Amino acid sequence: MRTRPLKVALLGCGVVGSEVARIMTTHADDLAARIGAPVELAGVAVRRPSKVREGIDPALITTDATALVKRGDIDVVIEVIGGIEPARTLITTAFEHGAGVVSANKALLAEDGSALHAVAEQHGRDLYYEAAVAGAIPLVRPLRESLAGDKVNRVLGIVNGTTNFILDRMDTSGAGYSEALDEATALGYAEADPTADVEGFDAAAKAAILAGIAFHTRVRIGEVHREGITEVTAADIASARRMGCTVKLLAICERAADGRSVTARVHPAMIPLSHPLASVREAYNAVFVESEAAGQLMFYGPGAGGAPTASAVLGDLVAVCRNILAGTTGPGESAYTRLPVSPMGDVVTRYHISLDVADKPGVLAQVATVFAEQDVSIDTVRQQVRQDGSGEASLVVVTHRAPDAALSGTVEALRKLDTVRGVASIMRVEGE
Ligand code: HSE
Repeated sequence: MRTRPLKVALLGCGVVGSEVARIMTTHADDLAARIGAPVELAGVAVRRPSKVREGIDPALITTDATALVKRGDIDVVIEVIGGIEPARTLITTAFEHGAGVVSANKALLAEDGSALHAVAEQHGRDLYYEAAVAGAIPLVRPLRESLAGDKVNRVLGIVNGTTNFILDRMDTSGAGYSEALDEATALGYAEADPTADVEGFDAAAKAAILAGIAFHTRVRIGEVHREGITEVTAADIASARRMGCTVKLLAICERAADGRSVTARVHPAMIPLSHPLASVREAYNAVFVESEAAGQLMFYGPGAGGAPTASAVLGDLVAVCRNILAGTTGPGESAYTRLPVSPMGDVVTRYHISLDVADKPGVLAQVATVFAEQDVSIDTVRQQVRQDGSGEASLVVVTHRAPDAALSGTVEALRKLDTVRGVASIMRVEGE
């Protein structure tokens, strides 16, 4: 074993960073044995230097992250500060000064992953980011390495724990969205500003990263169709139940049937209770990968939290350190297919549409005509007459598979019918 330690700079010492430092210290001997050299924490860049950080030598703490990555003796930089800047500049500077990088930064990788990979390659360094997608769940490496000989056609998953917790609570307790969000906040799952989670930005970043790796192409977060869960109502959940389904926020990345394009989307969807993703409860994540030779694979586990995310970071640290000792680098970006990302309108899916309609002769025929005009085939229709004397009925239509543009065109046309008093809910149906 080499006695000279590999030096690690840690950028960020919050929930994840502090766990990374703790495990590096407590498992130092095991990590050294697995790598073939000791790894030493050489500096920790933080915003608040006065905060007490148990187990970390105060002499290692600095507020000057730039000076730390420019030191010249750092072998690996671990970036767990998140956000676009200063993370992007610090990672680029780290490569320029000879360090490999381990990052948990989904937003940055989804926005600018290709450019970062290019700088890493230019300087002959590694960029690893297992922790950026679904916390502790090994997903990036299986897609980048284990499935490198296969052809992945679809990735379908729950990649945001906060929203899964909220939807799970709505499903199990009948709570409304706000009530479930309050509970998620009180329990520490949702942040004070939950926008990134509940509006689907976090999941969209992960979808962009997964689609890029799975299909060997480039997908940026702006190309991912995104809808959050803020509009999901208790009525939607109850309606899903009646269909033998539950509602999940799904990230879905697909290769088109002709193989010439890909799509990536994040939106709430009804999935059958018999689907394995339906049983993913609370804040857990799970991802289904469908590939030609391997068939269906499912990855499941904690997608967030300090220790689980640190586990993924440390796995990458070991890999990068091993590569340094071997004088090599791991896989870089594989984006050779250059497949275009098709718009949401091209995605073939199914809709569950709940309408409030006038309860009088010919209404059902009128509604059915609108579907026919848009070339959308109806699978099931359920009508329930209101007992409140309003003269209205609730009409729930589930379609067969059709392009999303035709389905959304159908909804627009339905809204214009005098006999349609309101569109109570629209949700896609997936996983069948
Ligand atoms: N906020 C994310 C979640 C974890 O709720 O899953 C970090 O991506």
